[in-house]
Amino acid sequence: MSVPAFGLGTFRLKNDVVIASVKNALELGYRAIDTAQIYENEAEVGQAIKESGVAREDIYITTKIWTDNMSREKVISSLKESLSQLSTDYVDLTLIHWPSPNNAVSVAETMNALLEAKKMGLTREIGVSNFTIDLMQQAIDAVGAEHIATNQIELSPYLQNRDVTDWAKAHGIHITSYMTLAYGKVLQDEVIGRIAKKHQATPAQVSLSWAMALGYSVIPSSTKRDNLKNNLKATELKLDAEDMAAIAALERNERIVNPEGLAPQWDN
Ligand SMILES: NC(=O)c1ccc[n+]([C@@H]2O[C@H](COP(=O)([O-])OP(=O)(O)OC[C@H]3O[C@@H](n4cnc5c(N)ncnc54)[C@H](OP(=O)(O)O)[C@@H]3O)[C@@H](O)[C@H]2O)c1
Repeated sequence: MSVPAFGLGTFRLKNDVVIASVKNALELGYRAIDTAQIYENEAEVGQAIKESGVAREDIYITTKIWTDNMSREKVISSLKESLSQLSTDYVDLTLIHWPSPNNAVSVAETMNALLEAKKMGLTREIGVSNFTIDLMQQAIDAVGAEHIATNQIELSPYLQNRDVTDWAKAHGIHITSYMTLAYGKVLQDEVIGRIAKKHQATPAQVSLSWAMALGYSVIPSSTKRDNLKNNLKATELKLDAEDMAAIAALERNERIVNPEGLAPQWDN
């Protein structure tokens, strides 16, 4: 598996805020950064990487193709624009951000364009995001599971997405959990709080460690250096079977990200 287990999210973060977050994170030891064309922060992410002094080849950069850019031509041209914004010759991973609304562009066309981009050296790996089982099947039919590095989906203790994760596992597709902290909501959870206390850890570390223990990559974001530092320490926290079972029981199918006109018919 190549998608790093732990990375930095940058959704909503712009201008000086994103520059500070990325620079702090790289200084603290983060080596993977998740951005997207629609975040309108690729240039700042690129600037922060440059200013950090960390070598480009030591950083795993993910970007995502926006829904306006799903046709073959636009995948290639918009990805070249992303590379220019990021001040780099390649990204490590390029994802389809959301399935094309109303299937205006087929999954096959976009996946094949991404595969072409990979062959051109614009991206080392390709993948998908917010894909349901049906959409993952279409992506596999188009390019084969061996070319799909990950499906990045909303996944937290409150939205465990088991139908999708079970199917992905059975078909060899790695899962990246976004909003593992449910945008901060699970940090107030009593069960997670109790487990955190037991391990002298923070609730954020418990949630992130839980997801990684299930084999998922995580990309929490933070604007605060202390939170960035503490979150990274989740990689050192080992939960026991009892903790894992207690968090499994927190499932409540509570989805936060469900944009009208973009979200597919979810599996659960
Ligand atoms: N593929 C997609 O469609 C998609 C959709 C959504 C998100 N994503 C990706 O996933 C990343 C993560 O999602 P997210 O940023 O929306 O949500 P998140 O990582 O679940 O939560 C971030 C929020 O939690 C707070 N937080 C972080 N660490 C904390 C800590 N240790 N203690 C207390 N609060 C803490 C942050 O506030 P502070 O800044 O105050 O620390 C921020 O408000 C995004 O940045 C983006 O890269 C992808």
